[in-house]
Amino acid sequence: MNYRGSGMSVMEMSHRSAVYADIFAETKARMKAALSVPDTHEVLFLQGGASTQFSMVPLNLLPVGGSADYAVTGHFSGSASKEAAKFGAVHIAADTSEQKHTFIPAQRELNLDPNAAYFHYCANNTIYGTEWQYMPETGSVPLVCDMSSDILSRPVDVSKYGLIYAGAQKNMAPAGLTVVIVKKDLAGHERPETPLMLSYQRMIEKDSMFNTPPCWCIYILGLVLEWLEEQGGVAGMEQIKRERARRLYDFLDNSKVFTPNARPGSRSDMNVTFRTGDPALDKRRDAALGDVVHDLDAEVFIFHGVPPQILSDRR
Ligand SMILES: Cc1ncc(COP(=O)(O)O)c(C=O)c1O
Repeated sequence: MNYRGSGMSVMEMSHRSAVYADIFAETKARMKAALSVPDTHEVLFLQGGASTQFSMVPLNLLPVGGSADYAVTGHFSGSASKEAAKFGAVHIAADTSEQKHTFIPAQRELNLDPNAAYFHYCANNTIYGTEWQYMPETGSVPLVCDMSSDILSRPVDVSKYGLIYAGAQKNMAPAGLTVVIVKKDLAGHERPETPLMLSYQRMIEKDSMFNTPPCWCIYILGLVLEWLEEQGGVAGMEQIKRERARRLYDFLDNSKVFTPNARPGSRSDMNVTFRTGDPALDKRRDAALGDVVHDLDAEVFIFHGVPPQILSDRR
């Protein structure tokens, strides 16, 4: 109700006020520190969810007449590739749909176009429970990655990426905020018809404040990042989730009823997915889990990677 003596809560503040400017700058600095973002890259706080990036990426990075590589390893990378195809040529560098997205292709299985404008992949396939265990090697072709469901859960060498994006609502803050980390020299080449709201360059120039940013979500992100630092940062997060996932996979691998969906070597530490092998039973399990999830929001958070401690704090 009286944030830092301002006489008002964060929800009431003007995004241009001095008190809010401090919140914004602190959150951005924490985000840069958490992922060791180099000065070659800019951190943007945008809106429209990760799904808006499915079109913002090609509008800005895919020149007219150019082609972009997409690895389709799950639902969201499939959606991203279809959206990009509205703007130009899309070359499918890998597609695991025939194997029901149970694995991540190895580097040698990627069919790369050396002239691609960029290579897009989704680091963690939320629905299928698979996660890239390596960073694809694409030579001079910029890497573009959807990290919505594993950002801040492990160290990442940001300098190797052209662009990283993530909807905040899985690992960072309430829905309404999308974090984008973009290499500055990739921005500024958007198509002429690109709406201002979808121009990385415009957002860089305006420090994400071309219009009113999602102020409350950014404030909460700052708190989450502060908490993350206390847990040992992204390296600490990686240890926590690895141990928790190991216990789940051990249980599933020894279960007579359940089988993990993802193949070993491609398994996600963030989303542990499993089946019974009997579609009727799977349906019953989903119904039962639905109830559990409804009764105990803990399960939702655990599957989305937030350690239980934060839950008990909230209760
Ligand atoms: C990996 C991934 N990408 C994209 C999305 C879509 O995100 P949004 O709802 O923020 O558009 C999701 C949502 O679950 C996701 O898990």
